[in-house]
This record gives sequence, C-alpha cells and structure tokens, in this order.
Amino acid sequence: MNENLPWRPERDRPLMLAPMQGLTNRALRGLFGEWVRPDVMFTEFIRVRPGSRQAISRADRLEAAGSGDIPLVVQLIGRDTAALVAAAEAARQSGAVHLNLNLGCPFGRMSNGSAGGALLKNPVDLDRRLTLLRQCAPGSLSVKVRSGYDDPEQIFSLLAIFEGAGVDFIVLHPRTVVQKYNGAADHDLTARVAAATVLPVIANGDVTTAGAGQRVLAETGAAGLMIGRGAIRDPLLFERLRGRAAAQPARAERSAELQYYIAELTARYRLIFQGDAQILNKLKTVLNMLAADPVFARPIRKMLRAKSLAELTALAGKLADYQ
Ligand SMILES: Cc1cc2nc3c(=O)[nH]c(=O)nc-3n(C[C@H](O)[C@H](O)[C@H](O)COP(=O)(O)O)c2cc1C
Repeated sequence: MNENLPWRPERDRPLMLAPMQGLTNRALRGLFGEWVRPDVMFTEFIRVRPGSRQAISRADRLEAAGSGDIPLVVQLIGRDTAALVAAAEAARQSGAVHLNLNLGCPFGRMSNGSAGGALLKNPVDLDRRLTLLRQCAPGSLSVKVRSGYDDPEQIFSLLAIFEGAGVDFIVLHPRTVVQKYNGAADHDLTARVAAATVLPVIANGDVTTAGAGQRVLAETGAAGLMIGRGAIRDPLLFERLRGRAAAQPARAERSAELQYYIAELTARYRLIFQGDAQILNKLKTVLNMLAADPVFARPIRKMLRAKSLAELTALAGKLADYQ
C-alpha cells in the first residue's frame, strides 16, 4: 500500500475538489472543508516562471501552506525543470506535503503557451522533470493530465513515464488539450487507462450530478473522483454523492444552499481580499459558473449585474422568495 497518498485507499474512494484558477483559493477551500468536506483539495495552479527572483510569490506561499485537516495538494504549472524544482522546494518549506504537476491546462494565455497541456506536445524531458519533483514531495507527487495533446490515445504512451518516475497517482480529464472543453469527457477512456496502469487513476470531467458521479465510479474502476465546475455550482454535490444530501434538491433546499454559500464566501473573502470591489468581483467569478442554473438562473444573472457588494448581498437575501 502506498503511504504517500493523500487518502486511505483501503478505506475510501476519495471525492476531490479540482484545482480551479480564480476560484479554489484558500477562502473557498476553507468553506468547502468545513461544510461539505471533500476528501482531498487542490490549490489553484501556481505559475512557475524561470528566472523569477522568488521561486513562488508570497501569495502562493500562503496558498500552499494549507490549513484545516483535509489533505491539500499544491499544483504547479511551468516548463522549466530547475524553476519547477525551486518552486516545489519553496512550496515544501511553506508546508506543502503533496505536489501535483499540471499537464492539462489548454490555455496558452495562462501557461505561456509551453506549460500545462502544452507539455504533452513534446514530452521528452517529462520523466526527468517528474523524477526530480518526486524528490521534493514529502507526500505524494501526482499529475493532472488530459488524454493527450491532440490524440486521445497518447495517454497510453505516458503511463510508463509516470510509473517510472515514481508518480503516486494520476488525475485524468479525458479530453485532449486541443479539444479544450468541447465535446464530452470520455470516461470509457478513463476505464481503459485505469485498467492499463498500476497507479490509482482519479476520474475527472463533467460530473455535475450524484448519479453521474456514481456511474463514473462504477463503470471506470477509477480510484476516486475529482469534481470542478459541478462542485462550484453545487457544493453539496459532495454530500449528494455520499447519500447524505438529496440527490436532486427541492427548490427550498437549493435556495438555502445558495444563500449560505454566498453569505459564507462573502465573509471569508473579506479576510483575504481587499475591499468591497474585489470581494464583489470574486463572488461574480463564482456566480458566473452558476449563470445557467436550472432554477435560479434569473436571480443569479441579476446578481451578476450588481454594481455593489451591498446590492448583491440584498439580492442574495431574496433568493428564497424567487418564484
Ligand atoms: C475556471 C477554471 C479554472 C481551472 N483552473 C485549473 C487549474 O488551476 N489547474 C488545473 O489543473 N485545472 C484547472 N481547471 C480544470 C479543472 O480542474 C477540471 O479539470 C475541468 O474543469 C474538468 O472537470 P469538471 O468537468 O468537473 O469541471 C480549471 C477549469 C476551469 C473551468
């Protein structure tokens, strides 16, 4: 049994909160950790650039430090091996235990066109990079990977590299990098990957209901599940998957969930962001993910147009009255 893993494989198939840039900061993670208790949470990606004066910024150190009792995985995105190793070392000194390398981000804008998913375009040096990172992680080293750069079968040629470099687990989002978010996550591929490697595979992609999550777990043989957009839209999805909250919430339950979510985020954002304008912005980043809510889309879109935090808060207070 692998003692490095951030979960107890003999006990559970973990439900993980995905890393999401702009969303899964320590305030949001703190709320999720106390409220719906994902088994493992990830930081937003920490950008690693060669030649920076500091390996990682002060803000990133705070994010990497973690708090609470839920295992935190610190994700790095970058291309330069020496800079990645320095960043991993700095993260470790800040308290990081589990490290993850992003091999999936499809947006050049965020990753300088050569990191994240772009690393799959030319994965020659990947084994050395991962071997060195492995030595920096006191706990697990994992990768979060798409199925390939433009070929969904590429993943099968990467498994031996991951295994050989001592990677502890793989998070698979079964779309290609060039596919971005088009089409559907192909969890038949997840099942084939899980069968083809000795490493635990965590399935990620398009899980937005308890039923969908349970199906992916049952049909893929994945070691666990990672949820991104679905969890931001519906934090109680973790509890729905465990059968501890209604699989399909009634309207009143959903409005109570949203009111609590918005009130708690507002209070927690106040502790880490500066001023009402920034808090308003951050809340809108979350609400944007909910703009197509099947029941509350209209009041949520109204909140997205709010000019002030006070206006948004007042609108959130009236969610239960919305017919
Ligand atoms: C706004 C946004 C930000 C994201 N940021 C990250 C990130 O920092 N690191 C990462 O590995 N993936 C990131 N992702 C991808 C998610 O972690 C996840 O793999 C993807 O959304 C598919 O899972 P889902 O269908 O459950 O959302 C991001 C996705 C979105 C929509």
